[in-house]
Amino acid sequence: MNISIVGTGYVGLVTGTCFAETGNNVLCVDIDETKVNAMRAGKVPIYEPDLDILFERNLKAGRLQFTTNLAEAVKKTDVIFLALPTPPNEDGSADLSYILKVADELGKLITSYKVVVDKSTVPVGTAEKVQTAIAKNCKGEFDVISNPEFLREGFAVDDFMKPDRVVLGLSSDKARKVMEELYKPYVRQGNPVYFMDLRSAELTKYAANSFLATKISFMNEIANLCEKVGADVDMVRIGIGSDARIGKRFLFPGIGYGGSCFPKDVKALVQSAVENNYDFKILKSVMEVNEIQKHILIPRLKKQFGKLAGLKVAMWGLAFKPDTDDIREAPALVMIDELLKENATITAFDPAAAENVKKLIGNKINYAADEYAALEGADVLIIATEWSLFRTPDFERMKKQMKKPVIFDGRNLYGNDQMQEFGFTYISIGRKNIIS
Ligand SMILES: NC(=O)c1ccc[n+]([C@@H]2O[C@H](COP(=O)([O-])OP(=O)(O)OC[C@H]3O[C@@H](n4cnc5c(N)ncnc54)[C@H](O)[C@@H]3O)[C@@H](O)[C@H]2O)c1
Repeated sequence: MNISIVGTGYVGLVTGTCFAETGNNVLCVDIDETKVNAMRAGKVPIYEPDLDILFERNLKAGRLQFTTNLAEAVKKTDVIFLALPTPPNEDGSADLSYILKVADELGKLITSYKVVVDKSTVPVGTAEKVQTAIAKNCKGEFDVISNPEFLREGFAVDDFMKPDRVVLGLSSDKARKVMEELYKPYVRQGNPVYFMDLRSAELTKYAANSFLATKISFMNEIANLCEKVGADVDMVRIGIGSDARIGKRFLFPGIGYGGSCFPKDVKALVQSAVENNYDFKILKSVMEVNEIQKHILIPRLKKQFGKLAGLKVAMWGLAFKPDTDDIREAPALVMIDELLKENATITAFDPAAAENVKKLIGNKINYAADEYAALEGADVLIIATEWSLFRTPDFERMKKQMKKPVIFDGRNLYGNDQMQEFGFTYISIGRKNIIS
């Protein structure tokens, strides 16, 4: 099939590359000319495990191409995916201007049958708005369908190639046949493809992300309570996770959820509810708990050291989660801000996200070449992201490098016994503090 993807970011590039991998001809469109030129030259602009291998293979084979020209994409392809940003407006609602602008342009360009697929996360009713925007000037036949994306950064290629499910909101048989054919190679093991109405498909994506965010905030509150009552959140987590109705995943407490999806999607769903005269009480609490949790570690640090001015802080991890270079709404950035305000100095290491932080805040912090270099002369180590690399470090080497053996772990990477044995002061989330 001939497919175009409008918006070549985290979702668009993975979608385009994975569609090319099964033999489709894919033309990716982006307004960012520098990015398009870089991709044409073979450079993958994001860090996503395994994406480079598929990217290179399909670029070489000519199945994956890039352009800034939307008209070319409409002319050459039959299925047009929209993988455009939907950032929050000031009131939390999703900003649909990127999508509606492209829809407007599509209206002028479509002259023969096209399936326009919305892959961005958008509020209920957006497909209808896109339909209206295209139809305003359109001479050709088209269908607008909803196909929310559930891939996780860090596992995006695997998630796309073997999705738990594919959700398709549509009412046209013609579009359904096209989409069934397109997704066939990805659901050969019997993974379900759910066909539903447009509005239900749009809401499914928000419901999924909001539920997961709720699970995280719930566990963070359990962790906070554990500290008050002297329980260990790891024990409680294992104890409840073995119940199949609850499940083991997404039960790890920490310093709050971040990223480009959970914060914005929860906000947008709350706002969607407001616009429909519904007060979504649980989600308002989920947001409140998350906000508090992002600020939980630094006051503890202050308590430990008396003051933060002049404190030499090492930070492991900057990305909002491991295996990505995405720093949008990363808890690390919140802590950096708090620390800098109090005149602490920070030396950070992240295996993939340092460049993006540098673009954002420049040399307000120092960037170390590896995890041990970050520790040189540090009074304390803060762990902000649970990269695998940080799970089994050389603790003796760490102690030698640091001025004081103190770890504030926002991700509960180590056991209390282990920390006691190595003589670290170790403050984590929802567990007893180890003071050495
Ligand atoms: N990132 C994720 O993990 C994820 C997962 C599922 C769903 N989503 C949703 O997918 C959508 C896209 O997210 P993302 O993270 O890929 O965003 P992104 O910011 O990484 O990428 C968006 C891309 O669109 C381009 N763009 C903007 N305006 C354009 C235009 N007029 N024409 C062509 N290109 C244009 C930008 O230059 C950018 O490259 C959002 O709605 C998001 O909520 C994201």
